[in-house]
Amino acid sequence: MKIKNQLLQSALIACLTLPGLVMAADAKLTDEQVNEINAQFPMPSGKMLGDSCAACHGTLGAEFNEGMPPLAGMNRQHFIDLMKAFRQGDFPTIVMHDVAYVYSDAEIEAMADYFASLPAEQWPAPNVRESAFLNPDGTIKQIGGAQ
Ligand code: HEC
Repeated sequence: MKIKNQLLQSALIACLTLPGLVMAADAKLTDEQVNEINAQFPMPSGKMLGDSCAACHGTLGAEFNEGMPPLAGMNRQHFIDLMKAFRQGDFPTIVMHDVAYVYSDAEIEAMADYFASLPAEQWPAPNVRESAFLNPDGTIKQIGGAQ
């Protein structure tokens, strides 16, 4: 139940912040300008930056099901190359240009270290994971009351 609430919360945060990211993409700052702006603020940790990706890529970069590629355990250099390509708009993306657009080189590198350090574990597939609502025999769990 707790994990489900966290996922719902993350999805809500993504819905609220994405329109802002899309608007930022219209501003068309260069990579140098983005680095310059970010240099004026304290550097967040790789974990702090990377945790904002959880709404789509799963808690600790481990996807919940097959929806998004997992980031946990990703090769550091591959992550950096891809994030810079996303930032640059080197190829069309559904989401990632608008996400990557705001990160400086140092922030991308900090996230690369963070995700490379995480175990590349997948969450169990939905059909094998324990249901929050169903007992193993298919009967519905008692909802409500103390968990
Ligand atoms: C709103 C959903 C969403 C959020 C938030 C998000 N991503 Fe993504 N990510 C995607 C989608 C969708 C793709 C597939 C590429 C595309 O079309 O945008 C992707 C692909 C990627 C990939 C390529 C992985 C691979 O192996 O191909 C990387 C790396 C990545 N995202 C990093 C990040 C990081 C780092 C963050 C947080 C700073 C983040 N993403 C936040 C949706 C998201």
